[in-house]
Amino acid sequence: MRTIREIKKQREWSKEERANNSIIGLVPTLGFLHKGHLSLVRKAREVSDSVVVSIFVNPTQFGPGEDYKEYPREEVRDLQLLENEEVDVAFIPSREEMYPEDYETYVAVEKFSKNYCGSSRPGHFRGVTTVVIKLLLIVQPDIAVFGEKDYQQLVIVKRMVRDLNIPIQILSSPIVRERDGLAMSSRNRYLNPEERKNATVLYDSMKEAQQLVNKGMTDVDALKKEMIKIIEGRKHPRVEYIEFVEPETLKRVKKVGVSNRILMAVHIGRTRLIDNMEIRGQVE
Ligand code: PAJ
Repeated sequence: MRTIREIKKQREWSKEERANNSIIGLVPTLGFLHKGHLSLVRKAREVSDSVVVSIFVNPTQFGPGEDYKEYPREEVRDLQLLENEEVDVAFIPSREEMYPEDYETYVAVEKFSKNYCGSSRPGHFRGVTTVVIKLLLIVQPDIAVFGEKDYQQLVIVKRMVRDLNIPIQILSSPIVRERDGLAMSSRNRYLNPEERKNATVLYDSMKEAQQLVNKGMTDVDALKKEMIKIIEGRKHPRVEYIEFVEPETLKRVKKVGVSNRILMAVHIGRTRLIDNMEIRGQVE
Protein backbone atom coordinates (compact mmCIF):
# COMPACT_ATOMS: atom_id res chain seq x y z
CA MET A 1 0.00 0.00 0.00
CA ARG A 2 1.20 3.51 -0.79
CA THR A 3 0.54 6.49 1.42
CA ILE A 4 0.16 9.64 -0.65
CA ARG A 5 0.04 13.04 1.05
CA GLU A 6 0.32 15.43 -1.89
CA ILE A 7 -2.47 16.25 -4.31
CA LYS A 8 -0.08 16.30 -7.27
CA LYS A 9 1.23 12.82 -6.46
CA GLN A 10 -2.29 11.44 -6.08
CA ARG A 11 -3.22 12.86 -9.46
CA GLU A 12 -0.13 11.29 -11.04
CA TRP A 13 -0.94 7.91 -9.51
CA SER A 14 -4.56 8.09 -10.69
CA LYS A 15 -3.51 9.16 -14.18
CA GLU A 16 -1.23 6.17 -14.49
CA GLU A 17 -3.90 3.75 -13.21
CA ARG A 18 -6.40 5.13 -15.67
CA ALA A 19 -3.88 4.80 -18.49
CA ASN A 20 -3.72 1.09 -17.60
CA ASN A 21 -7.52 0.90 -17.81
CA SER A 22 -7.84 0.20 -14.10
CA ILE A 23 -11.19 0.90 -12.49
CA ILE A 24 -10.50 3.10 -9.44
CA GLY A 25 -12.75 2.92 -6.37
CA LEU A 26 -12.62 5.67 -3.73
CA VAL A 27 -13.77 5.49 -0.11
CA PRO A 28 -13.68 8.93 1.55
CA THR A 29 -13.33 8.90 5.36
CA LEU A 30 -12.47 11.09 8.32
CA GLY A 31 -10.23 8.29 9.63
CA PHE A 32 -10.32 6.54 13.03
CA LEU A 33 -11.50 3.58 11.03
CA HIS A 34 -13.87 0.87 12.24
CA LYS A 35 -15.66 -2.09 10.70
CA GLY A 36 -18.24 0.20 9.09
CA HIS A 37 -15.52 1.91 7.07
CA LEU A 38 -13.89 -1.41 6.25
CA SER A 39 -17.17 -2.74 4.84
CA LEU A 40 -17.08 0.14 2.34
CA VAL A 41 -13.49 -0.72 1.47
CA ARG A 42 -14.54 -4.31 0.75
CA LYS A 43 -17.40 -3.13 -1.40
CA ALA A 44 -15.01 -0.88 -3.35
CA ARG A 45 -12.61 -3.80 -3.71
CA GLU A 46 -15.37 -5.99 -5.22
CA VAL A 47 -16.17 -3.51 -7.96
CA SER A 48 -12.80 -1.93 -8.77
CA ASP A 49 -9.24 -2.86 -9.70
CA SER A 50 -7.58 -0.42 -7.33
CA VAL A 51 -8.90 1.11 -4.14
CA VAL A 52 -8.05 4.51 -2.70
CA VAL A 53 -9.14 5.38 0.84
CA SER A 54 -8.89 9.03 1.79
CA ILE A 55 -8.38 10.08 5.38
CA PHE A 56 -9.01 13.75 6.01
CA VAL A 57 -10.66 15.38 9.01
CA ASN A 58 -12.39 18.01 6.94
CA PRO A 59 -12.56 21.30 8.85
CA THR A 60 -15.29 22.84 6.68
CA GLN A 61 -17.92 20.31 7.75
CA PHE A 62 -17.48 21.00 11.47
CA GLY A 63 -19.38 23.97 12.89
CA PRO A 64 -18.02 26.37 15.51
CA GLY A 65 -18.15 24.62 18.87
CA GLU A 66 -18.24 21.16 17.26
CA ASP A 67 -15.63 18.44 17.75
CA TYR A 68 -13.09 19.23 14.98
CA LYS A 69 -10.24 19.48 17.49
CA GLU A 70 -11.18 16.42 19.58
CA TYR A 71 -12.16 14.27 16.61
CA PRO A 72 -10.12 11.06 17.12
CA ARG A 73 -7.09 10.68 14.89
CA GLU A 74 -5.02 7.50 14.83
CA GLU A 75 -3.16 7.38 11.59
CA VAL A 76 -0.79 4.51 12.34
CA ARG A 77 -3.63 2.23 13.34
CA ASP A 78 -5.73 3.31 10.33
CA LEU A 79 -2.86 2.58 7.94
CA GLN A 80 -2.44 -0.89 9.42
CA LEU A 81 -6.14 -1.64 8.98
CA LEU A 82 -6.04 -0.48 5.36
CA GLU A 83 -2.89 -2.47 4.69
CA ASN A 84 -4.73 -5.58 5.98
CA GLU A 85 -7.55 -4.86 3.54
CA GLU A 86 -5.05 -4.68 0.68
CA VAL A 87 -5.93 -1.12 -0.15
CA ASP A 88 -3.74 0.34 -2.89
CA VAL A 89 -3.48 3.93 -1.71
CA ALA A 90 -4.17 5.77 1.52
CA PHE A 91 -4.60 9.37 0.43
CA ILE A 92 -3.98 11.71 3.36
CA PRO A 93 -3.92 15.30 2.13
CA SER A 94 -2.89 18.17 4.39
CA ARG A 95 -5.30 20.82 5.57
CA GLU A 96 -2.99 23.48 4.11
CA GLU A 97 -3.11 22.01 0.64
CA MET A 98 -6.85 21.27 0.69
CA TYR A 99 -7.78 24.69 2.08
CA PRO A 100 -5.10 27.33 1.53
CA GLU A 101 -5.66 30.52 3.50
CA ASP A 102 -7.36 32.31 0.62
CA TYR A 103 -9.76 29.39 -0.10
CA GLU A 104 -13.15 30.68 -1.34
CA THR A 105 -15.11 28.04 -3.25
CA TYR A 106 -17.97 25.91 -1.90
CA VAL A 107 -20.48 23.55 -3.47
CA ALA A 108 -23.88 23.10 -1.85
CA VAL A 109 -26.88 20.93 -2.61
CA GLU A 110 -29.32 23.60 -1.52
CA LYS A 111 -32.61 22.12 -0.32
CA PHE A 112 -31.42 18.72 0.89
CA SER A 113 -28.80 20.35 3.10
CA LYS A 114 -31.26 22.41 5.15
CA ASN A 115 -33.38 19.80 6.94
CA TYR A 116 -32.74 17.11 9.53
CA CYS A 117 -29.01 17.09 10.35
CA GLY A 118 -28.64 20.27 8.30
CA SER A 119 -30.90 22.30 10.57
CA SER A 120 -28.88 21.66 13.73
CA ARG A 121 -25.57 21.74 11.83
CA PRO A 122 -25.82 24.70 9.41
CA GLY A 123 -23.04 24.57 6.84
CA HIS A 124 -22.22 20.94 7.61
CA PHE A 125 -23.37 19.47 4.31
CA ARG A 126 -21.87 22.36 2.35
CA GLY A 127 -18.56 21.33 3.90
CA VAL A 128 -19.19 17.69 3.05
CA THR A 129 -20.13 18.31 -0.59
CA THR A 130 -17.21 20.69 -1.01
CA VAL A 131 -14.64 18.21 0.25
CA VAL A 132 -16.24 15.30 -1.59
CA ILE A 133 -16.15 17.09 -4.94
CA LYS A 134 -12.53 18.06 -4.28
CA LEU A 135 -11.64 14.43 -3.50
CA LEU A 136 -13.49 13.22 -6.61
CA LEU A 137 -11.63 15.73 -8.78
CA ILE A 138 -8.25 14.85 -7.26
CA VAL A 139 -8.57 11.07 -7.23
CA GLN A 140 -10.76 10.80 -10.35
CA PRO A 141 -12.26 7.45 -9.41
CA ASP A 142 -14.79 5.54 -11.49
CA ILE A 143 -16.72 4.61 -8.36
CA ALA A 144 -17.04 6.11 -4.89
CA VAL A 145 -18.59 4.25 -1.96
CA PHE A 146 -20.59 5.87 0.86
CA GLY A 147 -22.31 4.30 3.87
CA GLU A 148 -26.02 4.32 4.59
CA LYS A 149 -25.04 5.23 8.16
CA ASP A 150 -25.04 8.86 7.00
CA TYR A 151 -28.17 8.52 4.94
CA GLN A 152 -28.80 12.21 4.32
CA GLN A 153 -25.17 12.64 3.26
CA LEU A 154 -25.53 9.75 0.82
CA VAL A 155 -28.62 11.26 -0.80
CA ILE A 156 -26.93 14.67 -0.98
CA VAL A 157 -23.76 13.30 -2.58
CA LYS A 158 -25.80 11.35 -5.13
CA ARG A 159 -27.73 14.49 -6.00
CA MET A 160 -24.55 16.58 -6.36
CA VAL A 161 -23.06 14.00 -8.72
CA ARG A 162 -26.24 13.90 -10.76
CA ASP A 163 -26.74 17.68 -10.86
CA LEU A 164 -23.14 18.43 -11.81
CA ASN A 165 -22.94 15.56 -14.33
CA ILE A 166 -19.91 14.08 -12.61
CA PRO A 167 -19.05 10.84 -14.44
CA ILE A 168 -18.62 8.80 -11.25
CA GLN A 169 -20.87 6.07 -9.91
CA ILE A 170 -21.90 6.48 -6.27
CA LEU A 171 -22.47 3.18 -4.50
CA SER A 172 -23.89 2.70 -1.03
CA SER A 173 -23.31 0.11 1.61
CA PRO A 174 -25.52 -0.93 4.57
CA ILE A 175 -25.00 0.14 8.19
CA VAL A 176 -22.62 -2.02 10.20
CA ARG A 177 -23.78 -2.33 13.81
CA GLU A 178 -22.33 -3.53 17.10
CA ARG A 179 -23.82 -6.76 18.45
CA ASP A 180 -26.37 -4.85 20.52
CA GLY A 181 -27.52 -2.78 17.54
CA LEU A 182 -25.60 0.47 18.04
CA ALA A 183 -24.46 1.73 14.63
CA MET A 184 -20.66 1.82 14.50
CA SER A 185 -19.30 5.35 14.57
CA SER A 186 -15.98 7.00 15.42
CA ARG A 187 -17.96 9.21 17.82
CA ASN A 188 -19.09 6.22 19.93
CA ARG A 189 -15.77 6.51 21.69
CA TYR A 190 -17.06 9.69 23.40
CA LEU A 191 -19.67 7.61 25.31
CA ASN A 192 -18.99 6.58 28.91
CA PRO A 193 -20.02 3.01 29.85
CA GLU A 194 -23.49 4.01 31.06
CA GLU A 195 -24.14 6.17 28.00
CA ARG A 196 -22.86 3.38 25.77
CA LYS A 197 -25.54 1.07 27.20
CA ASN A 198 -28.26 3.65 26.66
CA ALA A 199 -27.06 4.40 23.13
CA THR A 200 -28.82 1.31 21.78
CA VAL A 201 -32.07 3.21 22.22
CA LEU A 202 -31.90 4.65 18.70
CA TYR A 203 -31.95 1.23 17.08
CA ASP A 204 -34.37 -0.20 19.68
CA SER A 205 -36.89 2.56 19.03
CA MET A 206 -36.70 2.11 15.24
CA LYS A 207 -37.19 -1.64 15.58
CA GLU A 208 -40.20 -1.01 17.79
CA ALA A 209 -41.61 1.35 15.14
CA GLN A 210 -41.34 -1.45 12.58
CA GLN A 211 -43.14 -3.83 14.95
CA LEU A 212 -45.93 -1.32 15.41
CA VAL A 213 -46.23 -0.85 11.65
CA ASN A 214 -46.46 -4.63 11.30
CA LYS A 215 -49.38 -4.51 13.74
CA GLY A 216 -51.12 -1.90 11.62
CA MET A 217 -50.03 1.46 13.08
CA THR A 218 -49.02 3.61 10.10
CA ASP A 219 -49.64 7.14 11.36
CA VAL A 220 -46.22 8.77 11.65
CA ASP A 221 -47.14 11.10 14.55
CA ALA A 222 -48.37 8.14 16.60
CA LEU A 223 -45.25 6.13 15.74
CA LYS A 224 -42.97 9.02 16.69
CA LYS A 225 -44.75 9.34 20.07
CA GLU A 226 -44.10 5.66 20.78
CA MET A 227 -40.45 6.03 19.79
CA ILE A 228 -40.01 9.06 22.03
CA LYS A 229 -41.56 7.13 24.94
CA ILE A 230 -38.95 4.41 24.54
CA ILE A 231 -36.11 6.90 24.25
CA GLU A 232 -37.20 8.96 27.22
CA GLY A 233 -37.38 5.78 29.28
CA ARG A 234 -33.56 5.80 29.34
CA LYS A 235 -31.31 8.18 31.22
CA HIS A 236 -30.05 11.44 29.71
CA PRO A 237 -31.23 11.23 26.10
CA ARG A 238 -32.36 14.28 24.16
CA VAL A 239 -34.20 13.70 20.93
CA GLU A 240 -33.05 16.17 18.28
CA TYR A 241 -35.27 14.84 15.51
CA ILE A 242 -37.11 11.74 14.33
CA GLU A 243 -38.43 11.87 10.78
CA PHE A 244 -40.07 9.41 8.42
CA VAL A 245 -39.13 10.23 4.84
CA GLU A 246 -39.24 9.10 1.23
CA PRO A 247 -35.92 7.33 0.66
CA GLU A 248 -34.92 9.19 -2.53
CA THR A 249 -36.31 12.67 -2.03
CA LEU A 250 -36.09 12.88 1.79
CA LYS A 251 -39.63 14.34 1.78
CA ARG A 252 -41.50 13.78 5.04
CA VAL A 253 -44.36 11.30 4.97
CA LYS A 254 -47.42 11.30 7.25
CA LYS A 255 -48.24 7.62 6.83
CA VAL A 256 -45.80 4.77 6.41
CA GLY A 257 -45.91 3.51 2.81
CA VAL A 258 -44.38 0.48 1.14
CA SER A 259 -40.82 1.59 1.90
CA ASN A 260 -39.74 4.67 3.83
CA ARG A 261 -36.72 5.64 5.89
CA ILE A 262 -36.64 6.68 9.53
CA LEU A 263 -33.93 9.29 10.14
CA MET A 264 -33.04 10.24 13.69
CA ALA A 265 -30.57 12.16 15.84
CA VAL A 266 -30.43 11.76 19.62
CA HIS A 267 -28.01 13.25 22.10
CA ILE A 268 -26.83 10.83 24.77
CA GLY A 269 -25.14 12.98 27.39
CA ARG A 270 -22.85 15.21 25.35
CA THR A 271 -22.61 12.90 22.36
CA ARG A 272 -24.79 13.37 19.31
CA LEU A 273 -25.69 10.10 17.62
CA ILE A 274 -27.47 9.58 14.31
CA ASP A 275 -29.08 6.46 12.93
CA ASN A 276 -31.60 5.43 10.27
CA MET A 277 -33.46 2.39 9.07
CA GLU A 278 -35.72 1.34 6.25
CA ILE A 279 -39.31 0.96 7.47
CA ARG A 280 -41.70 -1.13 5.43
CA GLY A 281 -45.46 -0.77 5.43
CA GLN A 282 -48.09 -2.98 3.91
CA VAL A 283 -48.06 -3.52 0.18
CA GLU A 284 -51.25 -1.87 -1.06
P1 PAJ B 1 -16.83 9.20 8.18
O1 PAJ B 1 -17.76 9.53 9.27
O2 PAJ B 1 -15.43 8.79 8.50
O3 PAJ B 1 -17.48 8.07 7.31
C1 PAJ B 1 -16.87 7.66 6.12
C2 PAJ B 1 -17.84 6.74 5.40
O4 PAJ B 1 -18.08 5.59 6.20
C3 PAJ B 1 -19.21 7.40 5.15
O5 PAJ B 1 -19.66 7.08 3.86
C4 PAJ B 1 -20.07 6.78 6.24
O6 PAJ B 1 -21.44 6.73 5.92
C5 PAJ B 1 -19.47 5.39 6.34
N1 PAJ B 1 -19.78 4.78 7.63
C6 PAJ B 1 -19.53 5.26 8.87
N2 PAJ B 1 -20.01 4.42 9.82
C7 PAJ B 1 -20.58 3.38 9.18
C8 PAJ B 1 -21.26 2.19 9.60
N3 PAJ B 1 -21.45 1.90 10.88
N4 PAJ B 1 -21.71 1.35 8.64
C9 PAJ B 1 -21.53 1.63 7.31
N5 PAJ B 1 -20.90 2.73 6.86
C10 PAJ B 1 -20.43 3.60 7.76
O7 PAJ B 1 -18.85 10.57 6.45
C11 PAJ B 1 -17.74 11.07 6.54
O8 PAJ B 1 -16.69 10.45 7.17
C12 PAJ B 1 -17.39 12.41 5.92
O9 PAJ B 1 -18.51 13.24 5.93
C13 PAJ B 1 -16.80 12.32 4.49
C14 PAJ B 1 -17.79 11.68 3.51
C15 PAJ B 1 -15.48 11.54 4.50
C16 PAJ B 1 -16.49 13.75 3.97
O10 PAJ B 1 -15.57 14.39 4.78
